[in-house]
Amino acid sequence: MRIKELLNQRFSAAMQAAGIPNECSPALALSGKPQFGDYQANGAMGAAKRLKTNPRDLATKILDNLDLDGIADKLEIAGPGFINIYLSSKFLASAVADNAPKSGNHNPQTIVVDYSSPNLAKEMHVGHLRSTIIGDAVARVLEYQGHKVVRQNHMGDWGTQFGMLIAELELQLSEGEQAELALNDLEVFYQQSKKHFDEDPEFADTARAYVVKLQSGDQHCRTLWQKFIQVSVAHNLDIYQQLNVGLSREHIMPESAYNDDLQNVLDDLTAKGLAVESDGAKVVFLEELADKNGDPSVMIVQKSGGGFLYATSDLAAMRYRVNKLGADRILFYIDARQSLHMKQVFTAARKAGYAPETVGLEHHPFGTMMGKDGRPFKTRSGGTVKLADLLVEAVERAERLLRDKNTDLSDDDIKIIARKVGIGAIKYADLSKTRTNDYIFDWDAMMSFEGNTAPYLQYAYTRIRSIFRKANIDPQSFNAEINIIEPQEKALAMKLLQFEEIIDQVASEGYPHILCNYVYELASAFMSFYEHCPILKDGVDEQSQQSRLQLSKQTSETIAKGLDLLGIEVMEKM
Ligand code: ARG
Repeated sequence: MRIKELLNQRFSAAMQAAGIPNECSPALALSGKPQFGDYQANGAMGAAKRLKTNPRDLATKILDNLDLDGIADKLEIAGPGFINIYLSSKFLASAVADNAPKSGNHNPQTIVVDYSSPNLAKEMHVGHLRSTIIGDAVARVLEYQGHKVVRQNHMGDWGTQFGMLIAELELQLSEGEQAELALNDLEVFYQQSKKHFDEDPEFADTARAYVVKLQSGDQHCRTLWQKFIQVSVAHNLDIYQQLNVGLSREHIMPESAYNDDLQNVLDDLTAKGLAVESDGAKVVFLEELADKNGDPSVMIVQKSGGGFLYATSDLAAMRYRVNKLGADRILFYIDARQSLHMKQVFTAARKAGYAPETVGLEHHPFGTMMGKDGRPFKTRSGGTVKLADLLVEAVERAERLLRDKNTDLSDDDIKIIARKVGIGAIKYADLSKTRTNDYIFDWDAMMSFEGNTAPYLQYAYTRIRSIFRKANIDPQSFNAEINIIEPQEKALAMKLLQFEEIIDQVASEGYPHILCNYVYELASAFMSFYEHCPILKDGVDEQSQQSRLQLSKQTSETIAKGLDLLGIEVMEKM
């Protein structure tokens, strides 16, 4: 249940009855301090300004018309006209009781989420991590809300680099190498082909010829290209699985999928007078994005040699997503450095009518992953960090950590848990930072069992589960009445009740850190509840014990659900 929504309805009705115009909002917010109640309605001040009357008098009038029977125990006017709302414990208890996380939506949309989308020329590296896990978390949240989410992995499998790569593959195969082995380390393979390209003019000529041949559909080149793509895609799918990211083969809609449509896009843009010739190339001038001097922004859609560009496939993708996929909203999880590209594509798509105003186009940018030295994250020798290596290290570190903790876990258990903790730590460290900022990758901070980290939250979950184990109760089937008496019980109940509001916010803004902060605050509220409100100790009366177990159960479910929506797994013990 969304308490804020309920209060909003009641306040709006009261304000209307008090003769306040509809545009005036009740301005509801959680109270910062307990002495100001649980929620505050601050709308009387704004409304009074508009009506040119005294805000306290207006607040009184609102209260006279307000019906919060069974919802609030106490209402008071404070200061210049704040209305403090004290929720009734009974109401809170019953609201929590039917608040268990459940998905669904009355107003489902079709939402396309473009994320991960690595280039296949090289192996996935840390630069792909953020798009992959932030996009995945938001996709999960939207799905949980009941939307139809269409994941689109817009993989970069086309472009001039592939001429060089398939020329190299041909060379290595002719030397008796097997494709899988030759491409075992894509990074090394890429370096080798680059070296050949730079040092051997004959090779460079072949590579350039292959670009053209590949584009014109030459069978030999296509076969080599397909081999390369196949191996590269397999690498990526393996990473997704390790990362517990919900991307599989069916979500791949690579750039090359739009090849046949690129000429159509160009023809259409030309017919509409949007694409024009400039120095032999075809470009779209966008006055909407003009710079300080009034010069329009230029988006090239065809090079002078005839080749199409990144922007052209994005425009083709836009048409496909709107027309074929029926998108109501399209979200792009792409590095902030591509902001101009996104603006250009959005503006052109609107002008060309590929995406009507009713379809939301949203670039959700993110900053760069930095090393502890504040510079972009690199290996010790200054190379790019392969994602595969990073994940192995994460799991190894988690395993060491678990062994150091001296748990009574079996070896097999440690292996399974280490994977969840290691991967969870990496993902959470990223997800919990405001995505638009750069963030510092720090092993020690993310692996800590204290603070706003995945291990802390996973541990909080196991603690609650262990209470049930100790009591010999199966939490699944447990159900008891909630009674809210202690302030810590109330604080915990209030937190539990915010879950859906938080989910709404993440769904509309695409900032997973809001959910991370919430889960962390929930776990913290539980810890202080658990400290002050004993559960299994002697002397706790039956009713309190049952009620507290119920609160605990719901907390564990909400933590697990929150983490699940972030793509992070929990475990029963650690
Ligand atoms: N492959 C691109 C890159 O690595 C990202 C593609 C993002 N998606 C898109 N529709 N442009 O930079």
